[in-house]
Amino acid sequence: MPTATAAPLVLGIESSCDETGVGVVRGTALLAHEVASSVEEHVRFGGVIPEIAARAHLEALVPTIRRALDTADVTLADLDAIAVTSGPGLAGALMVGVAGAKALATALGTPLYGINHLVAHVGVGMLDGVRPAQWDDLPEDLGALLVSGGHTEILRVGRISSEAELLGSTIDDAAGEAYDKVARLIGAGYPGGPVIDRLAAQGDPTAFRFPRGLTAGKFVGSAEEPGPHRHDWSFSGLKTAVSRAVEQFEARGLEVPRADIAASFQEAVADVITAKAVRACREHGLTHLMLGGGVAANSRLRALLADRCRSAGIELTVPPVNLCTDNGAMVAALGARLVRDGVAPSDAWFGADPGQPVEVVSV
Ligand code: KG4
Ligand code: ZN
Repeated sequence: MPTATAAPLVLGIESSCDETGVGVVRGTALLAHEVASSVEEHVRFGGVIPEIAARAHLEALVPTIRRALDTADVTLADLDAIAVTSGPGLAGALMVGVAGAKALATALGTPLYGINHLVAHVGVGMLDGVRPAQWDDLPEDLGALLVSGGHTEILRVGRISSEAELLGSTIDDAAGEAYDKVARLIGAGYPGGPVIDRLAAQGDPTAFRFPRGLTAGKFVGSAEEPGPHRHDWSFSGLKTAVSRAVEQFEARGLEVPRADIAASFQEAVADVITAKAVRACREHGLTHLMLGGGVAANSRLRALLADRCRSAGIELTVPPVNLCTDNGAMVAALGARLVRDGVAPSDAWFGADPGQPVEVVSV
């Protein structure tokens, strides 16, 4: 077991979805952050194809590691530890990162940490320049709202190297997935988030009243007697409602009001995500909230979340978008924290765990 080091030099590898991310961090200083994305290869399918993503990781991993080491101006021999996303994510994609990280760690005799992708999204908030100036460290009453093509979760993060708790999550599609599917329904292209965001700017968000999933009393209950899905989300009903609206226009031979549909859909997503996240924070005594995931780039989500956090007395932190999307810097940042806190490295036998629970910060 390594001795706890104040500012360990850590290489982080991320391969859970369609981004091969490699970061180099010294303590809380970000030295390099390189990403190779296979998003272009998934465009014609309108969603991430796991086998294509895995093959792309295989091709990108070594060159991306090289670029990150060069940018950071360090060598493999300088590293105090290597961290890699062990889960959750796509099995084949995760395996590439895990196998690569194990090979490097074994050859170099460097400690290796298999870490949780979701907690790593929060770890990015420890980095210099991302961490708000008034924080010495992550606050104890910190929540994290993660919204991307792969996840929609609200977490409570305690001592980050050992404690994280899932407060709520989507029970079907992830928010970004809903964006991608709705974009396909209105023929707007892929990835759906940015195109719908742009289209929505020209539309009327009140033109259609689309459903907010899991907001009925039987799901939500009350603070005293919470319902089964008080802090959870569902986007499948919303997707169906959009599909029906599109069909009704098409059946009558009318032009589909794409901008109004995009704006109304975006309003429904932003409304239900922010309302439920803020309620979860309030009811769990969380006075700080960090946003992560690709959907954090969404203009309406950011504006509405900022408003609602301000009204609820919650301090909101939004990292730069290139650190909100999947990247290796967040993996390196969490790895450096594990070393600093004296957490034991993973043993050599861990595997990729597509369903790794959020409570398992490192394996
Ligand atoms: O975190 P990310 O890069 O990858 C994973 O899904 O893990 O997130 C990508 C997702 C895609 O679904 C994309 O449509 C969505 O983030 N996205 C957005 C915006 N930009 C990207 N969603 C809404 N509004 C945006 N401006
Ligand atoms: Zn992610």
